[in-house]
Formats: sequence, C-alpha cells, structure tokens
Amino acid sequence: MSKTDSGEKGIQHIAFIMDGNGRWAKARGLTRDAGHRAGVEAFRRVVSHCGDIGIPIVTVYAFSTENWKRPAREVSLLMNLLSNYLESCGDDMMAHGVRFRVIGDKTPFKRELRESIDKLERLTENNTRLLNVALNYGGRDELVHAFNRLAEKGITNIKEEDISRELYTAGIPDPDLIVRSSGELRLSNFLIWQGAYSELYFTDTLWPDMTSEDVDLAILEYKNRHRRYGGL
Ligand code: FPP
Repeated sequence: MSKTDSGEKGIQHIAFIMDGNGRWAKARGLTRDAGHRAGVEAFRRVVSHCGDIGIPIVTVYAFSTENWKRPAREVSLLMNLLSNYLESCGDDMMAHGVRFRVIGDKTPFKRELRESIDKLERLTENNTRLLNVALNYGGRDELVHAFNRLAEKGITNIKEEDISRELYTAGIPDPDLIVRSSGELRLSNFLIWQGAYSELYFTDTLWPDMTSEDVDLAILEYKNRHRRYGGL
C-alpha cells in the first residue's frame, strides 16, 4: 500500500486492541510470556507499517485498568516488556518523527516506569506523528476522571466539547477505525467516548500474527464503508 492510500480516504487515527497473545502461545505449546513477547514484535511491526502508509495517529491498548487482575507474575512480565520497550525505542521514534504519549492513569506504576515514560514523552514531544499507548487505561475511568475535573472547575452546563477536552486524548481527532484482533467482538472499555462513530474491524488473526497485510485489509474494508454519522 502506498503512502497516500490511507490518507486519501482520510484515516487520521487508527486504534488497535491487541488481543490473543495468550491463545497464540497456547496453540504453540509456549508460555504466555512468549505470547506477550511475540505481541511486542507485532506491535512494533504494525505501528511501523502505519507510519509507512502515512497514518498520522496510532493508538494501542496495551494494559487496561482490568489487567491488574491477572496473576502478579504476568503483570510483572508485561511491565518489564514495557520498560524494555521504553528504554529501546527513543532513537527509532526520533528517526521516524514519532511523538510518544501514554493515555491512562500512570499513578499506580512504579517510579522508574513513570520516569521512563516521562523521559520518552519529553524526548519526542516536538515530533509530528503520534503514538498513544493506553496503559492502565479504561474508558469509564477516563470519563469519571473527566466529570470530576469538570465538577472541580464548577462547570455545570456540560457540553460534549467540555468532556472531550478533559479526556486523555484531548485535542486529537477521534479514531476513524478501531481494529481488534483474535476474534473477540467487543470494545472492552477502550475509547468508548472517542469511538462513538469509529468504524470497527474485527479479525480472527491473533495479535502476534498481525502483519502489514492484515492492517491493509482492515483499511481496505474501511475505505469500502460509507460513514454516515447518523445522516443519510
Ligand atoms: C491481550 O492478549 C494482550 C494484552 C493484555 C497485552 C497487550 C500487550 C502487548 C501486545 C505488548 C505491548 C507492549 C508494548 C511494549 C506496548 P491476552 O493475553 O489477553 O491474550 P488471550 O486473550 O489470548 O489470553
């Protein structure tokens, strides 16, 4: 797919629910750890492809507010993978003009992890493409946070724009397309406000198997849909 292809039909923002690492590993008789490691490779591959085809904003769901319920060992592995990624991706992001941002509540993370996040956000803050990584993110949590902020500010006659302004995604367009891997047909608390009019694309491909071709297929289907936003 050429650089202009995604731009023509105006994909400004694509989002991914990266699901199926565990099943991918199980199918191969591997540990869940191996599934998550392969998931990181897929994440790098997919984000890089989105950049190559000219999509300016990519958001991925990496760790939800519900994922803390997983066994401590798995949570710890995910945190380590994240930490390794944060430490290793700065040069590549600078080379490709990618701005890194976390969406979600960072407060429960260990200090070292928060510092790595802050460092990468600062390093890349003047880049133009945007990679949002949702960490300790939940759409309901985000909305509750936004409503509380509005209450603190004494805003009562609340308008949609007031809410959007208080979200982690303030100032960026809503996702045009949300892609979920592994055959599950849910949003799982991901971008529930921002995704109100997003096109949804579900694929049976397990996340570690996601390739550039899978992304291109999702975009092709998106282009063949007719977005009406409630109109005719
Ligand atoms: C869902 O698969 C995946 C996750 C909860 C973690 C997603 C994280 C990654 C792909 C790594 C991203 C890493 C970085 C550095 C951003 P699952 O474990 O729920 O799979 P299952 O439903 O098959 O068990």
